[in-house]
Amino acid sequence: MEKREMLYEGKAKKVFATDDPDIVIVDYKDDATAFNGVKKGTITGKGVINNKMTNYVFRELEADGVPTHFIKQLSDRETEVKKVKIVPLEVIVRNVAAGSFSKRMGVPEGKELLQPILEFSYKCDELNDPFINDDYALALGLATQEDIDTIKSYTKKINAFLIDYFLKADLKLIDFKIEFGKDKDGKILLADEISPDTCRLWDVHTNEKLDKDRFRRDLGNVEEAYNEVFKRLGIDS
Ligand code: TMP
Ligand code: ASP
Repeated sequence: MEKREMLYEGKAKKVFATDDPDIVIVDYKDDATAFNGVKKGTITGKGVINNKMTNYVFRELEADGVPTHFIKQLSDRETEVKKVKIVPLEVIVRNVAAGSFSKRMGVPEGKELLQPILEFSYKCDELNDPFINDDYALALGLATQEDIDTIKSYTKKINAFLIDYFLKADLKLIDFKIEFGKDKDGKILLADEISPDTCRLWDVHTNEKLDKDRFRRDLGNVEEAYNEVFKRLGIDS
């Protein structure tokens, strides 16, 4: 597969065309941003960790019946994926109160929720990814009812898988954000990434934060946290 021109540069990844119109190459950067790009920095080694961790998890999820865009890891930072059109919804699952939920609802971080919450944000940087519901998504044509049903059903499966997967590494999955895309046949696929950038992960014994909140909140030991998660998960490829 020949890597061609860059199609898109996001905050954490670049996307390149290939000689196959249905396949693109994702290239993970060490760049980190928070608060919609207001805070900028570098987390050395993050790109490698996020690439390998995402690919490992996506392979496992495929085996569990969740279709993903993953095709093949090409290098430490590069992965071949199916080209998709991203559904403009950030799909967030919360198992424990934290972050914007705690702020909005006045619930202390760390409070267990009686059941997981699945919420949507409209993926739009200019508007700061506003919180929306199913009706907003339908009324604005961001997704169809069938898309939403499929996305919710996959997301519940992903949450169940991830809770268990991280718990085996002594990590509590507080919340996470995922994105889906549609392939050329209109099929919904899990896309983007699953990494310490997009999940809140706390040590199960001490509640130490081992994710991007260390960067967002200037808690220090950012690289160490990413390395710790990666080491605990025992991903070697
Ligand atoms: P929040 O509490 O700030 O809404 O974040 C919920 C989850 O989504 C948390 O695991 C971090 C992740 N997230 C992203 O992956 N990208 C983002 O832009 C934001 C705001 C959150
Ligand atoms: N997507 C957010 C930003 O751009 C980063 C985050 O908080 O995860 O800056």
